[in-house]
Amino acid sequence: MADESQRATDREIEAAAQIILEAEYTIALTGAGMSVESGIPPFRGPGGLWTKYGEPPMNGFEIFLSDPKKAWQQRLSRCNDELFAPLQRAKPNPGHLALAELETIGVLRFVITQNIDDLHRQAGQKALAEIHGNWKLIRCLECGSRFRPEEVSLETLPPSCPRCAGLLKSDTVSFGEPIPSDVLGVCATQASRADLVIVAGTSATVYPAAGFAIEVKQRGGVMIEVNLYESELTRVCDVSLRGGAADVLPRLARTIADGRRARMH
Ligand code: APR
Repeated sequence: MADESQRATDREIEAAAQIILEAEYTIALTGAGMSVESGIPPFRGPGGLWTKYGEPPMNGFEIFLSDPKKAWQQRLSRCNDELFAPLQRAKPNPGHLALAELETIGVLRFVITQNIDDLHRQAGQKALAEIHGNWKLIRCLECGSRFRPEEVSLETLPPSCPRCAGLLKSDTVSFGEPIPSDVLGVCATQASRADLVIVAGTSATVYPAAGFAIEVKQRGGVMIEVNLYESELTRVCDVSLRGGAADVLPRLARTIADGRRARMH
């Protein structure tokens, strides 16, 4: 939890809420910081996995393609490591629930998440693109179909697509792997419609994800940041709300809901 001096004030939250209530089409871009309060470590910054162990090889996809059987054997044996164990235990936190609530009341139109953790889905977010994939899903590299593990036979590794017999891979996007075109297309469409973007819990260092938020700003839109610390976007955003996502987003959602009610009377 950010120390009080760093925590967004009620006045700052109120100001951000009023700006969001004025917007026509609000989307959000989220990152690992959204799930820190669900027990999943971030990648960069304090307590980050890459900070601790160094960045993984940038050619992860090439390594997969060079020996998919070995990659699958490694993947299936990783269930207890520092990345996967927290993923299995994690539950949506009040930050995820606040974004789902903002969707329910029609304020938030779409969420682009860089997180593979499935927590936005579990929180009930419907209009959602998982730009780096979902760790619970398996994707065919030929036809692009996605499957739940129980829909795929893992008797033979690497497993084959039940639809086209193509090569299957975890749906999570490896370094060096192109973002699946269906997801990229949806993100581009949503970013092109938005006049306001909330960037929550991301260092905004990875593209094309960060580029969607910047595009909204470059087209004259508004950018509101929620982050425990400064990020690459802090200097270009209109409002930067400091604090944990699980603290700031529920306060923001409550203030927006109150503001909407006040406007209806
Ligand atoms: N609440 C809000 N923000 C937080 C919190 C929190 N509780 N804890 C950390 N943060 C912020 C950090 O200040 C940082 O800006 O979240 C951000 C996390 O940044 P990264 O670890 O770089 O995560 P992300 O931006 O999602 O990384 C993008 O990089 O390694 C790849 O594929 C991976 O999707 C990931 C991508």
